[in-house]
Order: sequence, then C-alpha cells, then structure tokens
Amino acid sequence: MAILAGNWKLYKTRKDVESFFDSLADIDPAGHECYVAPSPSLLETACRKSQEKGNKIGILSQNLAYKLEGALTGETSVKQLLELGVKGSLVAHSERRQFFGETNESAAERCKIGLEHGLKILFCIGENLEERKQGRFEKVIEAQLNPLFKVADAFSKETVQKQLVLAYEPVWAIGTGVTATNEEIAASHDFIYKLCSKAGFDLSILYGGSVKPENLGAISSIPRVNGALVGGASLEAKSYRDLLACLTRPLRSPT
Ligand code: PGA
Repeated sequence: MAILAGNWKLYKTRKDVESFFDSLADIDPAGHECYVAPSPSLLETACRKSQEKGNKIGILSQNLAYKLEGALTGETSVKQLLELGVKGSLVAHSERRQFFGETNESAAERCKIGLEHGLKILFCIGENLEERKQGRFEKVIEAQLNPLFKVADAFSKETVQKQLVLAYEPVWAIGTGVTATNEEIAASHDFIYKLCSKAGFDLSILYGGSVKPENLGAISSIPRVNGALVGGASLEAKSYRDLLACLTRPLRSPT
C-alpha cells in the first residue's frame, strides 16, 4: 500500500478547499493512504470537509512547533492540530530549510513531539543541485537523517514504523518540472533504505519533486518507492484523482 500526499504550500482559499473535497466525494483510496497539507488558516475547513466526506483524504499540516505551547510566535502546536482533527504533519520541507532556517536538529525535535502525540510525520530530505553536482548526496542525506534516527531511537520500532515516513525530494526537482530519472530515484531510494536499515528502521520512503499523473505510474513502480509527495499537481481535484489512479492501477499489464 502506498501514500499519496499533496503539499498545497501557500495556495488555495477556503472556497477552493471546499470544492476540492466536494469534487472528490466519491474517491476510493483502495487501501492507500491519501492526504493533503493545506496552510494553517485552511486546516479547520479542510478537516471539516474531510470528516464530512468520510476521512478518505486525511489532513496534514505543513509544519508543527517543537513545543506544546510557549513564546513561539508564528508556530502551530500539536495540541492545536489535534484539536482540529489533523492526522499528521510535513516536517523539514526544503522550503522550510531554505527560507525559514530549519536545521536537521530542529527538524528532528519537531518530529519528536509529533511522534509523542500520535501524529504521522512526513519527514522531508533531499540534496540541492550544488550538493549533487559536488557528489555530496550521500553525506547530505546522512546528515539530515542522523538527528532523526537519534530521536526515533527513543520510540518503539512499531511506533516509528507506523508514524514516521520519509519523503525524498531532490531540491532541484521541486517545482522545476525536472524530475530525477528513474535510475536516479532508484539509486537514491536504495541508499536511503539501506541507511534506515542500518539504523534499525524499516520506513516507507516517498518520492517528491515535479511528480504528476504522467510520471507517477513509472515512479511508483520503482523498488523502495512507497508513494509520492506532490506539490503543484495535487492542487486540482482532477489531477489528484489521476495521481491516485496511478497508484491503484496495476503497475504492469499482464503479459
Ligand atoms: P512539486 O512540489 O510537486 O510542485 O515539485 C513538491 C513539494 O514541494 O513537495
């Protein structure tokens, strides 16, 4: 079973959220986990609509505070998210790392509080173009994952496996229309999978970066790819439905 998560970034109004859910009232996740992650002011509407339509598409926040409460202007706490019916959160999206000073350590702290309170955490990792060109992919990924593994070590294996998901998104493929080749994705996922295994974790790993209905079928058939984190192509209901169809249709036609 795979995961389809839409990252809505700073897009949409309440009206857009309502019509998205109304258009997808009949969607059938067929055992897959479907999510969308709207901005904070839209979470309440999204949770209400999701519940109204039978919770087939769960709601994630795009970030969460590393404390339950306190002097942290501009943050949203786990307590507040749970009250709304949010199921989980993205953590350390590359835009948080790039524009809002998220570090590997602060991201791990956010993950900790999410795991403690039963939230699903989609933890984003990935190298930028310069790092890839300089052959630093492996070092960058290790540095991103090590603080996370330290945090995860304090939880039971079952909790980690159930609640923690990685999303590998090469930064150079986000919003650019450039997708990594299937060979690059396979090699990256394989490397990440092995790092996790070495640390004693068996985690689902999503791919993200210019995923669309035209390429998700092929991407989701790559070994160690357990679904996708999708930005632009997750915004419209029709495209979201098409993305899900890529996960539900048989991957290879019988020969
Ligand atoms: P994109 O964004 O699908 O528009 O490239 C992915 C993301 O930022 O998670």
